[in-house]
Amino acid sequence: MSRSSPWIKQLAGLGYGSRRQIADLFAEGRVTTANGEPLRADDDVVHADVRIDGMPLDPASGVLLMLHKPVGYVCSTRDQGRLIYELLPPRFCLRSPIVSAVGRLDRDTSGLLLMTDDGGLLHRIISPKSKLPKTYEVELAQDLRGDEAAIFASGELMLRSERTALLPVWLQVSAPRRATVTLTEGRYHQVRRMFAAVGNHVECLHRCRVGGLELKCLEPGAWRELTTDEKEALFSISSGY
Ligand code: URA
Repeated sequence: MSRSSPWIKQLAGLGYGSRRQIADLFAEGRVTTANGEPLRADDDVVHADVRIDGMPLDPASGVLLMLHKPVGYVCSTRDQGRLIYELLPPRFCLRSPIVSAVGRLDRDTSGLLLMTDDGGLLHRIISPKSKLPKTYEVELAQDLRGDEAAIFASGELMLRSERTALLPVWLQVSAPRRATVTLTEGRYHQVRRMFAAVGNHVECLHRCRVGGLELKCLEPGAWRELTTDEKEALFSISSGY
């Protein structure tokens, strides 16, 4: 059996082992259809119908998933502390191309994190041109003063050590120390620095929405693939592209 058969290449790319190890899986009859019939590496079969040791395959390449990032996890493959990859199946670290975080949430921020192995899609989501709105729920150390919404919306707020003013940010106040902010940029620690610039301090930060996609009831630490409708929803609210 040739190690360059499409299925051998694909399964190796999904992190199931080296090409040689995958060839062995086929030879041992461990790669089967959903009905348990052994497959050959050159069989013409769709991803959803393939099992390894009876288990459905991980998502095919081109995956886009949402993760509910808990506080305390870092968006990196090799930083100190707990990494978001610990929340995914171990095989995900071995995939080629790797499934990367689409932008970052800082360690102390929770919420909706998109991850993909599709470089073009990643670029489309994070590109400043796409102007995809991101919404955060914020809990503050001090009561809001009342002038923050106007300052954030002005398009004139300069953050320390930045050269250009922030694009307008929409603030909706829900309680004296609670608000949501919606922004279209992704500057370093943007939300925390914006509130610092108006004399406040962010105690809790949670991203609940990206474009038209909401985190809803996904538990902290859980992840799932996006449906086709959700992928469309993602770009349904965007002022760019
Ligand atoms: N703004 C922040 O300050 N932190 C994040 O993780 C995202 C936006």
